[in-house]
Amino acid sequence: MKKWMPLIAFFPLLSTVAMSQKVPVYLDDSKTIEQRVNAALSAMTLEEKVAMCHAQSIFSSKGVARLGIPELWMSDGPHGVHPELFYDYWAQANWTNDSSTAFPALTCLAASFNPPIAELYGKAVGEEARYRNKSVLLGPGVNIYRTPLNGRNFEYMGEDPFLASKLVVPYIKGVQSNGVAACVKHFALNEQETWRMDVDVDVSERALHEIYLPAFKAAVKEGKVWSVMGAYNKFRGHHCSHNDILLNQILKKEWKFDGVVISDWGGVHNTQEAAYNGLDLEMGTNTDGMTSSIANSYNSYFLAVPFLKELNSGKIDTFIVNEKARRILRLIFRTTMNRNRPFGSLATPEHAAVARKIAQEGMVLLKNDKQILPIPNTIKSIAVIGENATRSMTIGGGSSELKVRYEVSPLEGIKNRFGKTALVQYAQGYGSGKYLYDSIAPSPYDAVKLRDEAVALAAKSELVVLVGGLNKNSNQDCEGRDRLDYGLPFGQNELLTDILNVNKNVVLVVVSGNAVEMPWEKQVPAIVQAWYGGTESGNAIADILSGDVNPSGKLPFTFPVKLSDNGAISLGKTSYPGNENGHKQVYKDGIFVGYRWHDSKSIPPLFPFGHGLSYTQFAYSNLSLTKETDGNIKATFTIANKGKVSGNEVAQLYIHKENSTIERAENELKGFQKVFLLAGEAKTVSLQLNKEAFQYYNEKRKDWATEKGAYTILVGGSSREVYLKKSIVL
Ligand code: BGC
Repeated sequence: MKKWMPLIAFFPLLSTVAMSQKVPVYLDDSKTIEQRVNAALSAMTLEEKVAMCHAQSIFSSKGVARLGIPELWMSDGPHGVHPELFYDYWAQANWTNDSSTAFPALTCLAASFNPPIAELYGKAVGEEARYRNKSVLLGPGVNIYRTPLNGRNFEYMGEDPFLASKLVVPYIKGVQSNGVAACVKHFALNEQETWRMDVDVDVSERALHEIYLPAFKAAVKEGKVWSVMGAYNKFRGHHCSHNDILLNQILKKEWKFDGVVISDWGGVHNTQEAAYNGLDLEMGTNTDGMTSSIANSYNSYFLAVPFLKELNSGKIDTFIVNEKARRILRLIFRTTMNRNRPFGSLATPEHAAVARKIAQEGMVLLKNDKQILPIPNTIKSIAVIGENATRSMTIGGGSSELKVRYEVSPLEGIKNRFGKTALVQYAQGYGSGKYLYDSIAPSPYDAVKLRDEAVALAAKSELVVLVGGLNKNSNQDCEGRDRLDYGLPFGQNELLTDILNVNKNVVLVVVSGNAVEMPWEKQVPAIVQAWYGGTESGNAIADILSGDVNPSGKLPFTFPVKLSDNGAISLGKTSYPGNENGHKQVYKDGIFVGYRWHDSKSIPPLFPFGHGLSYTQFAYSNLSLTKETDGNIKATFTIANKGKVSGNEVAQLYIHKENSTIERAENELKGFQKVFLLAGEAKTVSLQLNKEAFQYYNEKRKDWATEKGAYTILVGGSSREVYLKKSIVL
């Protein structure tokens, strides 16, 4: 023990003086993080280093108390800060001061197509994590929307790697501005929940680099994320939480990631692989509160005593543990040990306002025939129907579940807005049953009675707002299992048809994180995709329905007409969900994910990627392309608001390679900008295309390459509403 230590312990008042005289380098703020890490490492024993590499409770890992280096506390993520759990038991600890703000689900953020909004999101959720003393927030997730069945799509940012990359970076910067690490997850190829612990994914090098990795790469290279979570599944035979190709070769060597690789909870299977294949911190292995046996204690983790034994016997080199401890120390110095980080705040009105703003920006007006929306202020009676009008959507869903300070339901939101001037009445219409983690208790309600009541209410009301969709039950939008089918569950199709028979003025509000089949789409005049809106969900829905806010969200993924129109699914079991025997899976759809599939196979979607209407109309004109001195190409065009209300339009730019000699998507998103326009206003928009915009991954050369020749630049309001086109030769 250093000489000054007992002095501080016995004479606390002298501690400041003593510290200023002989502060060890690792505690000295004036030194760089790397100097402090080196000093801490050389002061630590082998046992202390090993102790850092695995959990000490279900959501924390050890520091070095002897040296004054604190523990590392983590929390889910990504839509708010998880309520406190017991120390080593997976149940809520029932604290009374841990209720948080629920921010909209990441699909909603993606639909905003608005990077500054993602930064606001990250900053606010990071402030909540900081206030709760969590140094790592387990999110955001950027796995790709490959099929509409993935139970966790709602936690991710859609089907397009460019869009996800542009949004993940500001989210991370926002979180980390609080001295809280973001933890981008689940790296990688975790695109389904079916057999998530062992499905063994193979994918072409090209699809890996062009579709599945770019958002992670952006998180590391541009977002400078401080931690990454390895996925549960396997990639080419090895679990992703200890996978040499993904973690050592790509993440650490190629992208120069200097942070910590944290395993998914229970994602580690082997000491040698965990030691050598890029993992730094093992979490969640057999965590059962140590109730079943001592064999499940934290000491038995693969990176605990078994690791120490192999280090001592020389089976594992000591540089391996130094490397892991170095990264973990760096993370601790960046977060908990950063004395200048702000203090954060929890569930404030400011955070609620941010949540409402994101929800407004992400909501997508899918259709609006007969201009049934916005709802006029003269309306006299509204029937609000559907279980999702009153159901909490922050409970359930798995690890992203929250305990909220409050949550405004759609019914409350509609009543807040219209209740003074119109009769707003409610009927449940259908019942889904109660979420009980791994099983669903059947609905106690009589389905026929619920439907009859709703239809009777619809018949006597001026307008019906049907709030349906999916929910956070297992097999819906929920971790652990995929959806079983593409249609709306719980008899909602029949309910909708019966309602349409008595009242044609129906606005359908779909609350979900996934596309759903809509066989009745032609008969429903207005459809709003509302996602999971969080704390202010109901108010934000009312903002959009009333026209107080003009909708501006765009779909971050394609809605296929039917499930078999989806590429991954249409290619058979090997492609999704993998083979029953051995759980091997090949992403046979390759680079043709989402709109890339629909476009190349000429399969019309129900609603295309990038689609979303407004209460005003936009006109695009005057596209010009110029080559800049730095080699970039600048696309300039004009957007005008031709309607009577102001609004935001998301201008989208796609590229198309003319006469390509290689397999290529028809069009690929390479630029977008959300532009606010007053009624009658016009603005010039410029988007930059750098050399990466034109590259593809050349599998033979194992590198990015550019095809020479002509490209068409397409500009418009969605992947299928292209208003301007021009060619350019590279
Ligand atoms: C999930 C992660 C989550 C972790 C901790 C896992 O089951 O896959 O996303 O962060 O649990 O709750």
